[in-house]
Amino acid sequence: MEEKSFLEKIEISADYIKKFIDFDIEIALVLGSGLGELAQSIENPIVINYSDIPNFPISTAPGHYGKLVIGEISGKNVVCMQGRFHYYEGYDAKTICYPIFVFNQLNIKKLILTNASGCLRRDWNVGDLMIIEDHIKLVSDNPLRGINYESLGPRFFDMSKTYSSKMMKLACACAKEINLPIRKGVYQFFSGPSFETAAEIKMASALGADATGMSTVFEAITASYLKMELLAISCLTNMATGISETILDENEVIEAGKKVKPQFIKLLKSIINKWEN
Ligand code: HPA
Repeated sequence: MEEKSFLEKIEISADYIKKFIDFDIEIALVLGSGLGELAQSIENPIVINYSDIPNFPISTAPGHYGKLVIGEISGKNVVCMQGRFHYYEGYDAKTICYPIFVFNQLNIKKLILTNASGCLRRDWNVGDLMIIEDHIKLVSDNPLRGINYESLGPRFFDMSKTYSSKMMKLACACAKEINLPIRKGVYQFFSGPSFETAAEIKMASALGADATGMSTVFEAITASYLKMELLAISCLTNMATGISETILDENEVIEAGKKVKPQFIKLLKSIINKWEN
């Protein structure tokens, strides 16, 4: 039998998810390291294991789950990805973004991406949250490399409005309301799983990056392609290599993420509540 096309696969995954719901989902959230817990505050949750969704990849990273949780947050119908797919796990860029294509197929046009990242700014602190206003990707891979499906989006497309300025403003206003200081900056993608070298961090700083991490950028590119309204927020869980003397380890990242989690969750709930069309 002929192999199913990418479009057919997405449709099959979306149709499977549709069987569980009789309402429209408005917002999709991809929860980064340590933030999976937000999904626990979802009301009337419907939980679907990635492994049960036809064609869906499966997540293996520490601190990550492998479930979709669908339900209500702050009065809005949302789907949370509890656990995402990373390049360092061996997935290719398109597979990492597979869920974003499925969300689009479910007619979801609002997306929040969260992650943990290393801080490049000596004047900022571990535990700070940063709204991603732009990104740098030197890794040559791209989720849209290969066949283009014109029904999804154009072959070439603008990236200047990838991160919604309306959503950045709203996130700042919501942070202010709960007295949570928030940064804005540029996120640079590195493939991992090795943390960066001190020289790489110096380079990233010189290029204009404020934070470094191993996720988000492929998903942001896909969201831009699919014309989704995107907000991305990073939790600066550690000073990047060479910015402080501390030796990096993954537990530090998970622990720092845990400390800001309650505030981060509060912020996300407020943003979801106020996100209008
Ligand atoms: N580098 C890359 N990814 C990360 C880091 C870092 O310092 N911290 C959390 N994710």
